[in-house]
Order: sequence, then C-alpha cells, then structure tokens
Amino acid sequence: MSRSAHPAGPRYADVLPEGHHPAPPADLNALHPRVWSRTVSRNEDGVATVGGLDVKRLAEEFGTPAYFLDEDDFRARCRAWREAFGPDADVFYAGKAFLSRAVVRWLTEEGLNLDVCSAGELATALDAGMPAERIALHGNNKSAEEITRAVEAGVGRIVVDSFQEIVRVAHTAQRAGKRQRVQIRVTVGVEAHTHEFIATAHEDQKFGLPLAGGQAAEAVRRALKLDGLELIGIHSHIGSQIFDTSGFEVAAHRVVGLLREIRDEHGVELPEIDLGGGLGIAYTPEDDPREPREIATALRGIVERECAAAGLAVPRLSVEPGRAIVGPTAFTLYEVGTVKELPGLRTYVSVDGGMSDNIRTALYDADYSVSLVSRTSTAGPMLSRVVGKHCESGDIVVRDAFLPADVAPGDLLAVPATGAYCRSMASNYNHALRPPVVVVKDGEARVIVRRETEEDLLRLDVG
Ligand code: LLP
Repeated sequence: MSRSAHPAGPRYADVLPEGHHPAPPADLNALHPRVWSRTVSRNEDGVATVGGLDVKRLAEEFGTPAYFLDEDDFRARCRAWREAFGPDADVFYAGKAFLSRAVVRWLTEEGLNLDVCSAGELATALDAGMPAERIALHGNNKSAEEITRAVEAGVGRIVVDSFQEIVRVAHTAQRAGKRQRVQIRVTVGVEAHTHEFIATAHEDQKFGLPLAGGQAAEAVRRALKLDGLELIGIHSHIGSQIFDTSGFEVAAHRVVGLLREIRDEHGVELPEIDLGGGLGIAYTPEDDPREPREIATALRGIVERECAAAGLAVPRLSVEPGRAIVGPTAFTLYEVGTVKELPGLRTYVSVDGGMSDNIRTALYDADYSVSLVSRTSTAGPMLSRVVGKHCESGDIVVRDAFLPADVAPGDLLAVPATGAYCRSMASNYNHALRPPVVVVKDGEARVIVRRETEEDLLRLDVG
C-alpha cells in the first residue's frame, strides 16, 4: 500500500510523548537518491546542486518558491518506459501531471505519445508540435468544442466515457467526414490501494462504464453500429500512486475477458487495450516503487496468458504514466521565513509558498520529505512541520519532518518529488503568484513556465 496517499494511519508526531518518535534519519544532510532527481548532489561547500548548478545561485537568479526540473532525468524516465514496453506497445505520457511546450517537445523526441484531457492540454500539445495521431483525448464530460477540435485535428484516439459521448463523437466525426478512432473507458471493479479521491476502478464513481452489469458491453454494441466511429479498443485506469501490480493484473484479466465476449458476440477482435497510468513514486525514502521494466513484464505476461487462454491474438498494449515520469524529476525550492517553536508541541517552519504550489498534502494527506539545501548542518534533528504562508491552518507542505535544529530564516529548503500534480494543480489562493518551472540541464538553467506577476492577476480582473 502506498504510504504517501493513504488517508488514515498513525501520525507519529501528533500525539506520541517525547522519546516515542521514530528515529530521525541517520544523516540529516543526506539527499536520498530514491526521492531526488538523478543529477542532485551536494558540492564541497555543502550546497545542493542540480544539473551542476547550486541552489543558492538558482534562488538568487529565479527567486523562491520555484520548481526546478531535471531534463536529463525526465528524458531518462521516458526512455526507460519506452524501452520497457518495446515496439509493440505505446507509452502515453499523462499531461495532467505537468504539461508545457518543452515537455511536449521532449516527449515527441523520445518517442512517447500524449494523453490530454482538456482543450487547453490539446492546444499545448498541438502548438508544440506533437503529431495529432500520437494524442489521446480523455475526460468524462468533454465539451462539444473539445470533441470537435480533437476530431478536426485528427487525434489518434478519443477515449469515450458515456453513452451520450459515443453518439456525440460519432456525429462530430460524420459531420467532419471522418471516422474517429475510439476506445471505451471501462471500470473493472478493482479496489486500488490508494487514496479514495485518486482511485478510479471501483464502480461507484464518475469515470468509465462498468463491466459488471453489462454497460461496457452495451457501449461496445452501440459504438460498433455507428459509422463515424472506429472502435479500436478498451481502456481501463484503476487509480494513482499504486505500488503493486496486482490491481493491474486483475484489470488486464477483466479487460481481456471483455475482448473475448466481444469476439464471441460480434466476431470482432479489437486490436488494442490501454491499462492506464497510476504507478506510484517515492515521496519519502520509505516508499519503494516498481521499475517500468517490472511493470511491463507483469502486464505483458498477464495479457499474453489471458489472450492465449481466450484464443485471441495479443492486442497492442498502451499505458499512460504521468507521475512516474515527471514526479521524481523536480523539486520545489523555498526560503524559510519564520521558525516558531511551540514548547511541548512542535516547531513550525514557515516557507514562502504552500498550498498554492502544492495542494497534495492538504487534499490527499500526502507525505513528502524535505531537506535543508543551502548548507549542511551538524545540529541535531528537530521534529518540524513545514508550513506555507496562506491564511489557512491546513496549509501544510510537509506534515512531519526532521530538520536540523539550527534551521533559521533565510535558509533554503527543498521538497523533492514535486514534478507531478503540483504546478499543474497550483492555484492563486490569497492571490499567490504561481511559481516558475525552471529546467536544469548540463550546468544551464532556463525558465519554461515563468513566474506569474501581479499584472497577470490584474489582467483577468476586469471589473
Ligand atoms: N490515465 C488516466 C485516464 C488518468 O485519469 C490518469 C490520472 C493517468 C493516466 C495518470 O495517472 P498517474 O500515472 O499520473 O498516476 N491529482 C492526483 C492524481 C489524479 C490523477 C488523475 N488521473 C494526485 O495529485 O495524486
């Protein structure tokens, strides 16, 4: 089970008396490779570096808070997924995790496809040159405009999510004189071991058509009858931040079961299945995620076995990792503003960002780790809560963290593994200005998403 996304469980710092806390890490200055991107280390002055650049200089040049994204790490993860799945499969990066023009260019160059779920993501993908046939459009309530733009652009697939949408996509395609390739999103009835808000394969929820009770089979019946559609496959996404492959294996088993039913009823073998995204990453050194190779071997194995048992040709497989590619590639750099010790309770360390740049702690009770990165320290460990600057007591960045006891205003802290669902879910709460995303590679840094300005905020305020 993912520790990072689980809602319940003991919070060791909340109630335990002095001396009952788990041991702090052996070395507070260590930057654990499981949670930091590949090129992160410390220089001889003890300052953390990424891509050869030290964080103090980066903070001076780009300000804080800011996200720093390691391009080499991103590309290496893309290649690891592509190589693990091989030429008979497609890897669609889930753009909702984090999308920008630069990301689209890297994906295009590294041979990945792209899953988008809104007109904005589609526009970004097309603008940055992703060939339309490598794009998949998702969503449980795509607007007429989104469907039209996707069909007209010629996206490789639309993943349809309801009976109404089957008809809408078919009509749109017919009007455009096209036949749109579609997959049907199904819910396979798997309980993914993750936070309720990011689990998507149980039946009582808004995504997909349930296999149980026959709605998925009915959707197939309807789609096969419509001239505007080319039904190419079945899609399942069971949830996010998942650490074991068993849920995917059950999903693959049930999806192949539907392919067999379709063959038996309609005499048609659908050529593709998509098993979605959801692979977990390490937010803290205790998290132990699976490698793409292990996932690929497990998924291919189960699909091949199930197809052999059903007498089906093995369909083309696709997967949609978002977090597992971009999550570990970035960290957020903050400056400490105040340190408030509450005797007998804990020490609150306030930084210059918070829930506007990382909502995941407040929303999912997610765990993160944090390190002092502008220097090393020989001070002892201090159990701390790293909080933001927003007007809300739930504005927590890292709930329970050991920091050196001499942490002080002006120090830089960094929270690793913030590449996914942090900038993409950032808000302007309290009229915060959303931080920039700075890419670091081979000793050079460049902004790919700039920091918002007050002018940006006021431009929208037209009253
Ligand atoms: N495919 C589909 C159809 C999805 O809905 C998602 C995520 C993915 C792929 C990518 O999942 P990933 O590999 O990134 O886990 N905001 C939440 C996560 C919501 C995910 C929504 N869909 C979070 O911060 O944990």
